[in-house]
Amino acid sequence: MNDRKIIAVVGATGAQGGGLVRAILEDPEGGFAVRALTRDPDSEAGRRLAAAGAEVVAADVDDPESLRRAFTGAYGAFCVTFFWNHFSPESELAHAANMADAARDAGLRHVVWSTLEDTRQWVPLDDDRMPTLMGKYKVPHFDAKGEADRLFVDRGVPTTFLLTSFYWDNFIFFGSGPQRGEDGRLRLTMPMGRAKLPGIAAEDIGRAAYGIFREGTGLVGQRIGIAGGKLTGEEMAAGLTAALGEPVLYNPVPPEVYRGFGFPGADDLGNMFQFKHDFEADFTGARDVERTRRLNPKLQSYEEWLAANAGRIPLGG
Ligand SMILES: NC(=O)c1ccc[n+]([C@@H]2O[C@H](COP(=O)([O-])OP(=O)(O)OC[C@H]3O[C@@H](n4cnc5c(N)ncnc54)[C@H](OP(=O)(O)O)[C@@H]3O)[C@@H](O)[C@H]2O)c1
Repeated sequence: MNDRKIIAVVGATGAQGGGLVRAILEDPEGGFAVRALTRDPDSEAGRRLAAAGAEVVAADVDDPESLRRAFTGAYGAFCVTFFWNHFSPESELAHAANMADAARDAGLRHVVWSTLEDTRQWVPLDDDRMPTLMGKYKVPHFDAKGEADRLFVDRGVPTTFLLTSFYWDNFIFFGSGPQRGEDGRLRLTMPMGRAKLPGIAAEDIGRAAYGIFREGTGLVGQRIGIAGGKLTGEEMAAGLTAALGEPVLYNPVPPEVYRGFGFPGADDLGNMFQFKHDFEADFTGARDVERTRRLNPKLQSYEEWLAANAGRIPLGG
């Protein structure tokens, strides 16, 4: 099976890349082989990937030469950045440039770049409906990804732009789940008003990326927005209520209140939710659940994700 096309996966031990690694390994007749990139192949996660059948190689998005080595000989690559590890849009841009350079130099045939909207195209910096952050961003962890799109285009890298959605897993790992108030009641706090929030099981992002590689280079140049469902805060709270067997109230605070919560990144996330609320039609319209399901037939709905994961949501109190 030496003729299998190698996909180099950045973030292979993480949420998005991990889903792609598992999708490739679960489909041995699919014509693809996986090369998992990690900073430390000897870590427990690295060893687990090797035991599952992946080729595991060392690479760091801060180290262009390591990326070049890791991409050489591959057919394609999945590229993602790690904003919440450093909170720096400039680092995201530098890491995307390193990946795009390496993809060009290795002559890759197909790259899937995990991106998001540059919200400044909707909310210019002089629009004071939301504060400008870090000098020149509205939603730093979105804007740098969107700005980085052109780094792939300018280098002539054959790229499909994958617009991701809010992970429902944020309820487990990111502190975005229901919190118990002093009155003992659970509240899901999000500044989304009555607008719908596209969401997805994190595992399904990499699986959709696999669908893109399978469909092939006809998707180069396309922007593909993915979601497993689009739900209002009321609907998300109702789903949690049913899955947890305890009432969860939706608490739609205004975005300025959310920005003031004080945890690291609260201002960035407050602006993000406001953007998704204020431009609901554009944001939800860019993400197509049925298209996502064609790319990834195992796509989970919100209810399916809850049925498998509600027990892992920390509820406090
Ligand atoms: N949470 C959400 O709702 C959401 C929604 C859409 C988009 N996003 C975006 O998703 C991105 C993060 O993706 P993810 O959730 O898949 O990440 P993740 O689960 O945190 O995984 C990150 C993985 O990347 C690797 N990594 C970290 N720094 C690295 C470096 N310098 N060089 C090479 N590898 C490195 C780590 O692997 P090793 O330790 O093995 O090297 C780690 O396992 C963020 O930029 C975020 O903005 C998040």
